[in-house]
Amino acid sequence: MPALSGLIRVMERAARKAGNRLRRDFGEVQHLQVSRKGPADFVSKADQIAERTLYDELLAARPDWGFVLEEGGTIEGDPDKPRWIVDPLDGTSNFLHGIPHFAISIAVQEPKPGGGGWDDVSAAVIYQPITDETFWAEKTRGAWLHDGRLRVSARSRLDEALVATGIPFMGHGDFGEWTKIFAAIGPQVAGIRRYGAASLDLAWLAAGRFDGFWESGLKDWDTAAGCLIVREAGGFVSDFRGRSNPIHSAQILAANDSLHSRLHKLLAGALR
Ligand code: IPD
Ligand code: CA
Ligand code: CA
Repeated sequence: MPALSGLIRVMERAARKAGNRLRRDFGEVQHLQVSRKGPADFVSKADQIAERTLYDELLAARPDWGFVLEEGGTIEGDPDKPRWIVDPLDGTSNFLHGIPHFAISIAVQEPKPGGGGWDDVSAAVIYQPITDETFWAEKTRGAWLHDGRLRVSARSRLDEALVATGIPFMGHGDFGEWTKIFAAIGPQVAGIRRYGAASLDLAWLAAGRFDGFWESGLKDWDTAAGCLIVREAGGFVSDFRGRSNPIHSAQILAANDSLHSRLHKLLAGALR
């Protein structure tokens, strides 16, 4: 294992602090205050407290970096410094229903050299408080689960592949598109899963637990950390047209190289 960089330590410490509180709140979920941001879009006191904890910890460690926070929006920092992209609780619906599958996702995004926008994600931590698992990656230094190297699965046969997806729901996503893709992929693979936390779908793909993943309509905070972790675990991430770009929140198709091309063929055929 490479020596943990100071940056990953900062991210892990922040995630654990917020995660400890989430774990406690999860035990008393029936007492949590919940409000609605939009159709089937809930935010609880737990999301807000986790975000505040992450913000305070990360700001103290890197005072001049900006933020993209799911709940708090964009906070500008020094434009020549990286910024944090944070989902304080990915899998809120699971959390609110007492389903122990949710995570904290933190990514570091680099500024474009010379200014004027944002470039690649260089570091990522996804922390799953209930299993106490920290998935992390740094660009060119590999992807890790604690001190064990992560590798996407080596499966190349569709009929052995377990594929995760995100299913559209009230006010979110394109039902027609998802149904077409499902009809094309479903009959060819060994299983389809909808676990309800996109960051973990990607982290679990990197760990070889899933062999593929597709979803559309995600946001940068859902995918920024997970995309780096998948790539550093040897996986391939693209949009539905097969094009690769740094974060992919609008459309995501991820798998090992050989399954990616097989899944992409099915998906592209379905949308033709
Ligand atoms: C959601 C989860 C889910 C995905 C949704 C996301 P949230 O994030 O990642 O898996 O299907 O589109 O919004 O709202 O729980 O942070
Ligand atoms: Ca999310
Ligand atoms: Ca969230």
